[in-house]
Amino acid sequence: MSDAGGNLLMSRLRRALVWISGASAGLGAALAATIPFEDVELIDISRRGGTPGAVHVAVDLADPASWPVVATDFGRRISDFSGDAVVFIHSAATLTPLGSADRVDTSQYARNILLNAAAPQVLGQAFLAALARASCEQHLIMVSSGAASRPHEGESSYGAGKAAIDQWVRTVGLEQVRRDPGCRVISVSPGAVDTEMQAVLRASSDEQVPESHRFRQLEADGQLAKPEDVARTIWSLLDRDLANGTVLHVRDIT
Ligand SMILES: NC(=O)c1ccc[n+]([C@@H]2O[C@H](COP(=O)([O-])OP(=O)(O)OC[C@H]3O[C@@H](n4cnc5c(N)ncnc54)[C@H](OP(=O)(O)O)[C@@H]3O)[C@@H](O)[C@H]2O)c1
Repeated sequence: MSDAGGNLLMSRLRRALVWISGASAGLGAALAATIPFEDVELIDISRRGGTPGAVHVAVDLADPASWPVVATDFGRRISDFSGDAVVFIHSAATLTPLGSADRVDTSQYARNILLNAAAPQVLGQAFLAALARASCEQHLIMVSSGAASRPHEGESSYGAGKAAIDQWVRTVGLEQVRRDPGCRVISVSPGAVDTEMQAVLRASSDEQVPESHRFRQLEADGQLAKPEDVARTIWSLLDRDLANGTVLHVRDIT
């Protein structure tokens, strides 16, 4: 997977301000647990909270009223920060509702779009705007999915949201090249990771997700990655020479 150990030595020595959305569970929690900075102010953006060592910004990101709350937090903390690096990793997402678009609950479908497609762009924009006067190293990492490029039946709004994230990253990455210092904006697909989200896929019916057997088989074959391993690989991206706007998959990281 990665050569995280060596490359992250420099990052560990620096003072950082880090937001992780969805740090209450799954990959986000693993990112919080493997944070490579020794001196870090960590903020979890989620509903449940409980992340060790993190300040909790308690919000439901499927509710647009929560977005200015996060934007205000970005602005306030960045203007008070005098350290070396500012990082936002957007990991929060949902598969709910799983099923054919014509059959799922309309209000759940709308929430899925707000969380998976709208919130990443709105929060990403707010983060970049808050960085306008910052002079330290700046990183924005969007957690995407293979569903962004390969249609997964039963996951239409989820896949569309991830595709939106990838195109947003490609575009904003180009824009940030023109800023000095720019924020490096990338998107990463984590592959199949052993989290609640995978459990939800395994528990789905063939009617909801015709490929659900594939997810049950992945677990049976021991093919699910450990969240902490994937998290370390994602952190290693901070020290890699990647073009701004890069969209990549963890399997491509050697
Ligand atoms: N697991 C996989 O195999 C896999 C594969 C491809 C891509 N991904 C991507 O990896 C990322 C992490 O997924 P995961 O597997 O760790 O999922 P997970 O275990 O289901 O965790 C989801 C996280 O998102 C947060 N979240 C969900 N709805 C939210 C809402 N309305 N408002 C605020 N936060 C919300 C949850 O926090 P609260 O419930 O506390 O709000 C939780 O911390 C996602 O972007 C996912 O699309 C995962």
